[in-house]
Amino acid sequence: KRLTIGLIPADGIGREVIPAARQVLEALPSSVLAARVGFVDLDAGFEYFQKHGEALPEETLAALKSDCDGALFGAVSSPSHKVAGYSSPIVGLRKKLDLYANVRPVVSGAAATASGARRAIDMLIIRENTECLYVKDEQQHEGPDGKYALAKRRISERASRRAGEMAFAMALQRDGMRRLMDDADRTWKGRPKVTIVHKSNVLSVTDGLWRETVRGVHTGNAAYRDGVDVEEQLVDSMVYRMFREPEAFDVVVAPNMYGDIISDGAAALVGSLGLVPSANVGDNFVVGEPVHGSAPDIAGRNIANPIAAIRSAAMLLERTGHAAAALAIYRAVDCVLAAGNVRTPDLGGSSRTSEVADEVCKHL
Ligand code: NAI
Ligand code: MG
Repeated sequence: KRLTIGLIPADGIGREVIPAARQVLEALPSSVLAARVGFVDLDAGFEYFQKHGEALPEETLAALKSDCDGALFGAVSSPSHKVAGYSSPIVGLRKKLDLYANVRPVVSGAAATASGARRAIDMLIIRENTECLYVKDEQQHEGPDGKYALAKRRISERASRRAGEMAFAMALQRDGMRRLMDDADRTWKGRPKVTIVHKSNVLSVTDGLWRETVRGVHTGNAAYRDGVDVEEQLVDSMVYRMFREPEAFDVVVAPNMYGDIISDGAAALVGSLGLVPSANVGDNFVVGEPVHGSAPDIAGRNIANPIAAIRSAAMLLERTGHAAAALAIYRAVDCVLAAGNVRTPDLGGSSRTSEVADEVCKHL
């Protein structure tokens, strides 16, 4: 069996952390990964746009669709002003490959103290990735009392159902992963649980449809009914509770904008941006992507933390059915963080990107 991964480093530190992730994937022993891993190097990004006039070339999309089982994306530099003809390639990929959920684990785990987190946190945030206020349908108007602006918010049954399906399926999948772990490594020890985030006490039509649809996914599926608990949390009290009691959450599912906000907030609970991975997931494809950007302030110096990218590679493995290999990477990373002697400057150390990658490989 073969596993072919498209590599899209794109801009800035993407060009340093994606090779580090590749090195770790190549070092996986065959005892944890039966498949042979192959790579396809692909272009995209703002620098590519400046040279070639497009940010996401057709060849990249075609290669992803025809040759790859999944992909890893580094980071893209977005200009702060509008540049004619430019649109973000990661946004384009999400759309063209129908990656309708953004999946972001927020984990302190064995490395809780090393990464600066005080609490044992093991939550997975599923953010609907295609609609809500981010349909960007905004207009400014002139009224008798001056200017005002209106934005449309789209919530559809289809998108809500797909996000809900993803949340309940992931809750069961995580439970399976945990069964492979020792008790000491398991932060979440209860039954799988999905928390539905909304504000339907105020937005009863839009958030009401979201809430009812996601609930319907649970009641409509026997495996979910039997295996997963469900609860609801209004988005404002979600933020409060997440900071007071982060260990109370397993899987959290939210409409696009609430999910954007709570997932950045949750990342603050576990330390550096350089540690937090994500995956853009659809039915047929997955793109792993560190949460951080292209970090122009440190790019080109071999000091970027590669752990977010390495963990994103593990998420890609988990999603493509290679759970044991994913777990091996998560554990190796935890060992390196817990030992603490090899750390990049964002975590207070003086090691280089490549040294962290070497160290993770040693622990595989
Ligand atoms: P950023 O995430 O690139 O950097 C924020 C701060 O965190 C910087 O001080 C940076 O040095 C540090 N940092 C980030 N990742 C790190 C890592 N792996 N190791 C060590 N330190 C790390 O966000 P910023 O500065 O707001 O944006 C820079 C560029 O990246 C912009 O052009 C922005 O549009 C783009 N960006 C792209 C994203 C993406 O590709 N999905 C996400 C966020 C920003
Ligand atoms: Mg965000």
